[in-house]
Amino acid sequence: MKPSLAGAWFVGCGNMAGAMVEGWHKAGVDLADATAIRPSGSPVPGVRTVTELPAGSPALVILGFKPQKLDEVAPGLAPKIGPETIVISILAGAEAGSLRQRFPDARAVVRAMPNLPVSEGRGVVALYSPDADDALRARMSELFAPLGLAIWTDDEASLAAIGSVAGAGPAYVARFIAALAKAGEARGLSPDGASRIALETVLGTALMAATHNESMGDVARRVASPKGTTEAGLAILDADGALDRLVAETIAAAARRGGELAEAARKP
Ligand SMILES: NC(=O)c1ccc[n+]([C@@H]2O[C@H](COP(=O)([O-])OP(=O)(O)OC[C@H]3O[C@@H](n4cnc5c(N)ncnc54)[C@H](OP(=O)(O)O)[C@@H]3O)[C@@H](O)[C@H]2O)c1
Repeated sequence: MKPSLAGAWFVGCGNMAGAMVEGWHKAGVDLADATAIRPSGSPVPGVRTVTELPAGSPALVILGFKPQKLDEVAPGLAPKIGPETIVISILAGAEAGSLRQRFPDARAVVRAMPNLPVSEGRGVVALYSPDADDALRARMSELFAPLGLAIWTDDEASLAAIGSVAGAGPAYVARFIAALAKAGEARGLSPDGASRIALETVLGTALMAATHNESMGDVARRVASPKGTTEAGLAILDADGALDRLVAETIAAAARRGGELAEAARKP
């Protein structure tokens, strides 16, 4: 049986929660009677959209607003969260304890850290819950499976680590593709041509490696023949671990910001 989101509330449904809705739609998940709450009233395709919290108490709530809005939203939402309500939060940084403080009556608090390719069923979603029982965990696994690779973590540090690589990752990959395209333009390609070629190169490389279960070291070795052109290029990326260092610093900066958001959410 397909998982169901019938009657669920999406409190905030912008880029990320909207991508989840799109992924669930494409997978044929039941979104009948689901409601998206957006102050702007901008429609979410396939889901009834309203500007204010509806009456009643939902069985499932997905928190899809920015972490900084937690204390703006929680006072109005908390009275609607009953002992049957499961609260799924995609808020970066806001810890389960901070969420439980705001929604003390919830049946369970589940943190999910998704990334945007969930819209294509090719996302990564880290999951963590301090209080979900086995049955609820199984239900959550079924719900998130159509969105891509769903991984339960034992602690919030692991959830944050997955978020720093996968949640933010599409932005970093996008920058790399753009840099590849810019370099192509500098070699005389048209802007459109260079963008298309860079995108297909990254898409094709990832697809090939995933299909053949090939390590990135092996991929690079298969492209770069000794003393050839690619090897000359790799020498620049690898010099003093240049690329590794840049990416590690990038992810460390994002992780520091995650720590700040967690700290802010601990103090209502
Ligand atoms: N973007 C990502 O790749 C990504 C990845 C992992 C996790 N996340 C998490 O996802 C959450 C949303 O990020 P986003 O990128 O989707 O942001 P976004 O596009 O700005 O969406 C935020 C949503 O919150 C709604 N909102 C604002 N104030 C509200 C209020 N008072 N009550 C109810 N809803 C309210 C907005 O409504 P309107 O539509 O009416 O403006 C919008 O739908 C964040 O907590 C972020 O940490 C994002």
